[in-house]
Amino acid sequence: MDAIAVREGEHEPSVIDVPRPKPGAGEVLVRTLRVGVDGTDREVLEGGHGEFPEGEDYLILGHEAVGVVEDTNGTDYEEGDIVVPTVRRPPNGPNEYFERGEPDMAPEGQYHERGIVGAHGFMAEYFTSPAEYLVRIPDGQAPLGFLIEPISITEKALEHAYASRSAFEWNPESAVVLGNGSLGLLTLAMLVTTHPFERTYCVGRRDRPDPTIDVIEELGATYVDSRETPVDELPEAYEGMDLVYEATGYAKHAFQTIDALAPNGVGALLGVPGPWEFEIDGGKLHEEFVLHNKALVGSVNSHVGHFEAASDTLASLPESFLDALVTGVYGTSEWERAFADDDTTIKTAVEFATYEER
Ligand code: NAP
Ligand code: BGC
Ligand code: ZN
Repeated sequence: MDAIAVREGEHEPSVIDVPRPKPGAGEVLVRTLRVGVDGTDREVLEGGHGEFPEGEDYLILGHEAVGVVEDTNGTDYEEGDIVVPTVRRPPNGPNEYFERGEPDMAPEGQYHERGIVGAHGFMAEYFTSPAEYLVRIPDGQAPLGFLIEPISITEKALEHAYASRSAFEWNPESAVVLGNGSLGLLTLAMLVTTHPFERTYCVGRRDRPDPTIDVIEELGATYVDSRETPVDELPEAYEGMDLVYEATGYAKHAFQTIDALAPNGVGALLGVPGPWEFEIDGGKLHEEFVLHNKALVGSVNSHVGHFEAASDTLASLPESFLDALVTGVYGTSEWERAFADDDTTIKTAVEFATYEER
């Protein structure tokens, strides 16, 4: 079968031929429908993040998948069920994090991530997965089911951010998303649709006209250009933000977030920037943090509960937003277009099979 992979020493994906996987005990065979592409896939291609499976010189890409159950293999699934796989798998047999259903909290070395760290991904005509790492979704969500994994990332991050503010009465009114990529825009749509913020902002570094700025404004949020208003100057230009959600992978934003926050606010950091040395005024940031009861949470990955919540969230996002967000779904004859990285591309997916309703 065809799979889309990155070979060791290369920075562009290519199509390779691999055997169709056979489900082992407790595993389901899934026919892949669509697999989304995000900034992490680009970081993996560049070689800045991720790891090849042990002993192999290629990595099948893709961690945002939706597919249809082809062989239930004696599990509780039914043939034709629409499923989304979670990303992490235990590397050497189960460990405590997987056993308690919190693989997203496992430290390095205690997980693989399919399509990213040490395990092949889902960008192939078929994939297998233990049944417990699949989440069944409504048939009607098959076409956009590849958005459930990225939405689940924000379900988790917001859960942790809100938990950090749960010891007092916190009534957030303003939120800013740093980053107008696919994760940033999905998060902005979630904040606008399912959270009661009075003011929402999204930071980018693009000139108008730009399709992401259109999306931001159609959601009713304010576009902020970080070249004119650096993130740490948001309080002077607008106001201190109760919630900051960083989805740029731009390391200075982690520290600028502390200044961007209103007293009692929380920042959620999602980016995976890699090493970058620069100067900060550590004393000032430390004091700002303490004297104003601010919090920062880092958040990575997500678990089954977040995927289930993400399916409900997907159902509540405005159709016009989803239409504008997904700029291209490409069949296997033009799959390369899904990896385009230009200002007209927001969210793309590779389509391996078309969904036929039961
Ligand atoms: P993406 O498509 O590359 O989006 C990043 C966006 O940030 C781009 O639109 C970029 O603008 C913008 N940006 C970068 N630096 C900026 C700056 N200094 N000022 C303003 N805007 C800036 O990536 P993504 O898929 O949305 O993901 C975002 C980040 O989250 C990545 O680092 C990714 O690895 C990470 N991520 C983490 C998790 C997790 O579990 N923690 C999950 C998914 C993704 P331009 O396009 O104009 O350059
Ligand atoms: C994926 C997560 C993963 C993270 C770090 C993200 O793009 O969506 O599942 O944990 O990258 O590798
Ligand atoms: Zn991702």
